[in-house]
Amino acid sequence: MIEVKDNVFALHGEATTLLLRVNEYGLIEHLHFGERVDADDAEAFICRQGLGWGESVLLREGDTASCPDAMPLAWSNPGRGDYRESPLALAGQPADFRYAAHEIVAGAVPMASGLPQAHGDAQTLHITLTQTNAELHLYFAIHGDVLVRRAVIRNTGDVPMTLTKMMSSLIDLPGDYEMTTFDGGWIAEMRASTVPVQASRVVNESVTGFSSHRHNPGFLLSESGATEDAGRVYGFNLIYSGNHYAAAQRSLQGLTRVVQGISPEHFHHVLAPGEAFETPEAVMAFSPCGRAELSRRMHRFVNAHIIPPHWQGRERPVLFNSWEGCMFDFNHRKLVALAKDAAELGCELFVLDDGWFGNRNDDKAGLGDYAVNRKKLPHGLEGLAKEINALGMQFGLWFEPEAVNMDSDLYRAHPDWALTDGYAPLLSRHQLLLDLTKPEVRDYIVDNVCAVLDSAPITYVKWDMNRHSIALGARAHAYILGLYDVLARIFRPRPHILLESCSSGGNRFDLGMLCYGPQVWCSDNTDPIERLTIQGNLSLLYPQSTFGAHVSAAPHAQTLRNTPLCTRGNVSFFGCLGYEMDLGHLLKLEREQIRDQIAFYKRYRHIFQFGDFRRMHSGWQVSGEGVTLAAMFRTLTHAAPGYGTLRLTGLDRHTRYHLSTMGQRLRIGQFGSLVKHVAPVNLDPNGLILRAADRLITLPDGKQDMHLSGAALMAGVRLLPGFRGTGYDENQYTLTDFGSEMYIIEEENTNAES
Ligand code: GLA
Repeated sequence: MIEVKDNVFALHGEATTLLLRVNEYGLIEHLHFGERVDADDAEAFICRQGLGWGESVLLREGDTASCPDAMPLAWSNPGRGDYRESPLALAGQPADFRYAAHEIVAGAVPMASGLPQAHGDAQTLHITLTQTNAELHLYFAIHGDVLVRRAVIRNTGDVPMTLTKMMSSLIDLPGDYEMTTFDGGWIAEMRASTVPVQASRVVNESVTGFSSHRHNPGFLLSESGATEDAGRVYGFNLIYSGNHYAAAQRSLQGLTRVVQGISPEHFHHVLAPGEAFETPEAVMAFSPCGRAELSRRMHRFVNAHIIPPHWQGRERPVLFNSWEGCMFDFNHRKLVALAKDAAELGCELFVLDDGWFGNRNDDKAGLGDYAVNRKKLPHGLEGLAKEINALGMQFGLWFEPEAVNMDSDLYRAHPDWALTDGYAPLLSRHQLLLDLTKPEVRDYIVDNVCAVLDSAPITYVKWDMNRHSIALGARAHAYILGLYDVLARIFRPRPHILLESCSSGGNRFDLGMLCYGPQVWCSDNTDPIERLTIQGNLSLLYPQSTFGAHVSAAPHAQTLRNTPLCTRGNVSFFGCLGYEMDLGHLLKLEREQIRDQIAFYKRYRHIFQFGDFRRMHSGWQVSGEGVTLAAMFRTLTHAAPGYGTLRLTGLDRHTRYHLSTMGQRLRIGQFGSLVKHVAPVNLDPNGLILRAADRLITLPDGKQDMHLSGAALMAGVRLLPGFRGTGYDENQYTLTDFGSEMYIIEEENTNAES
């Protein structure tokens, strides 16, 4: 809902308001973004300059209160008295945009450039500012509690205009903040780092051509000391998959300026007379009470306004992916055998990963080609898909359409279709990218991918991209527009296909890709202990329904860590569950455990994927439909553990709940020579008897079962005692390093007296 009172605009979300005003100089002042207030409250948020700031530049001689450098703004003119971070650069020329008009539009205003955008029926405020040779259009809308805004600049003069920087958003927030960014690389995504925002700029930027795992476009600004449940926190993001930029800077007057948009590095856009440039949409949310509420607002926004409508609230299948189990080494028979195993365990979708086409027997050849490799798949994709469907499973397929190997039929026919920068080509994973700025390249990809998709019953696509950087220079934005064009042409007519994007894991985990497909493969690192960081930090800004989360083999391929199967499951449950390992190597007891895991996940899948997620000390909880699922994760075990406590949040204090544990089984082998303490004979820990027993026998671990109030659960429930070296007992937890436990807390029908 949008209120306009005199020169004040109030955009209301459910619990949030954005207040703007047009000041007497025609600049758009940013008065407030935070708690819900009224347009009538605008007076309370005006920053009064009084007798001014001494030597500053004034917009009107004699008016000491007209210093743009000290105004809280929602847009600013470079070179005209405001020397903080500027939102645009017109090849070194100053700008002087002033308010000209506004309108309120029903729903979202469609993008003209082909960029993806948030959908929903919130009203949009459109403010037009003008200067002698250009128009600037600012669009604002609040979806749920999330502000979405963008800017469009149009050349209304009669000579070309050069843009070297054009941000989506600028905002000045009163107060001091810390900025948390999420940085990393391959198998090391989403490592948080926090720095105070001071007078020098703090920058979160990607210049690789993609949103990147080096610096995710999402970030936080928090009051110092903010926690999960206390303190003012702002979250920011960009609906864009290319080079991004955000900077925060604190002014002398105590305003924290934040700009967000496309990275200005290599950005160079010439606007002919009459032409316009449109920025991606910037996203911003606020929580008055810590990170958990911020996440909840962002999650609802992504689930309702970003992901394709077909997938809103729609449960994702449990999948089996062939990659880690087979790599490039498979054939029809092996895949069908794996699929049989996967179906028998409860998987619903079988995904054939890399290696099904061209001469692709390793990663040195074949990218760019689409002919099915008949040596591996003599019955083609159709024959394979039919057999998989007959097992009751859907069939999905991997593609990497943006890339080309020099050893491919495509490259031999069209070497000029590969992106080059005029120097000798630099390969990454033996590949180049295709030039998606060329219409014929986009047509080639669309025609080939569509032909494959229509040749067999394919209901899932993993869209990979394994170059981490491209030398695109000024063409970076055009490349991303080309990618969006390709994705729209392939997937908009096929909304039923579940698109999971991937870029060596999380190298392109962003809101732009999520507008086309509802999931992203968030990391090639499936070690569950590492995933606590990756998924945990992603969850600050993205909902669990957007993470592909797979159980893989232990010891783990990237860390060599040997993690119990229960922990691998318990971590992957908080996302879209999949399995990715050689099922042929599983022990019977592991199969049984996986079957139980999948059945458990299916029972609570809607809550795991779409419920309210909270991070706890040493664990995660998710709630919905009267059920809370809480996992406690142990990293390192200490001797003589004290009394453990499970403390939940967000329950109804008067409701009665039943708490139970999922329960896990302990492998005999994990006790090694300690078995002598319980066995009548002294057994060799490396001997045949114990090795055989380890494959067949498990012991139950402690189980907790109680009926209690929400108040007690939020005060903290004492857990069973932990193993202390005094013996094994079914009524204690015998969790080892990296062990975990899953608690199920279900509402009972009776309400306790308050
Ligand atoms: C990338 C992906 C993996 C897998 C391989 C296949 O590394 O992240 O999941 O699909 O490519 O080559």
